[in-house]
Amino acid sequence: MKFFIDTANVKEIESALSMGLINGVTTNPSIIAREGKEFIATMKEISALIGPENYLFGEVIALKADEMVKEGRELVKLHKNFVVKIPMCAEGLKAVKQLSAAGIPTCVTLCFSVPQALLAANAGAAYVAPFIGRIDDIGWNGTQLISEIKEVFDAHGIATKIVAASTRHPVHIVDIAMLGTHIATVPFKTLLQLIEHPLSKSGLEKFLQDWESVPKK
Ligand code: E4P
Repeated sequence: MKFFIDTANVKEIESALSMGLINGVTTNPSIIAREGKEFIATMKEISALIGPENYLFGEVIALKADEMVKEGRELVKLHKNFVVKIPMCAEGLKAVKQLSAAGIPTCVTLCFSVPQALLAANAGAAYVAPFIGRIDDIGWNGTQLISEIKEVFDAHGIATKIVAASTRHPVHIVDIAMLGTHIATVPFKTLLQLIEHPLSKSGLEKFLQDWESVPKK
């Protein structure tokens, strides 16, 4: 399972890249707003930072299909592996169909159900992003949604990749990895949590403590 960091913060992206943890960066309008900088300038900065081998996901703002397509066509110029995020709605599906016909990869975002995921796939989306944390927030089961979408896609030979979005903690990551999810979008804080284990910490402390008793030259 690949990890895409869910941030537009350059320091966080640099840090995750330096540890070899990520294969891409995912953004949305809220993530961009958090940094307080202009959208295209921010995306250009991230694009240069991650290099051509990684992926960059960015979202359109328009609500009409033709305008979404226009925005998408501009956004893909920002990076070799740019994926245009399109919100789940009727106009969004029209835009996905057109962009996909033009060979531009899309990710249908704000997906909260199996039918929505199926429609996104049928419209031609290369990726679909179910928001598992937000599903949990309303008392449903986000991991269960990933499992159901995976089962349906596998049963029908659908090639659309599942991007488990809105992950909030390490248990989400373990659960979706065990389901064979293609990609997880992960906040920086959660990436750091994944590194930690109390036995790794205490084990290292013991190694260093024992090393003190080793005769030195
Ligand atoms: C993906 O990029 C999604 O927009 C993101 O994971 C949403 O996360 P949130 O539900 O924590 O805002």
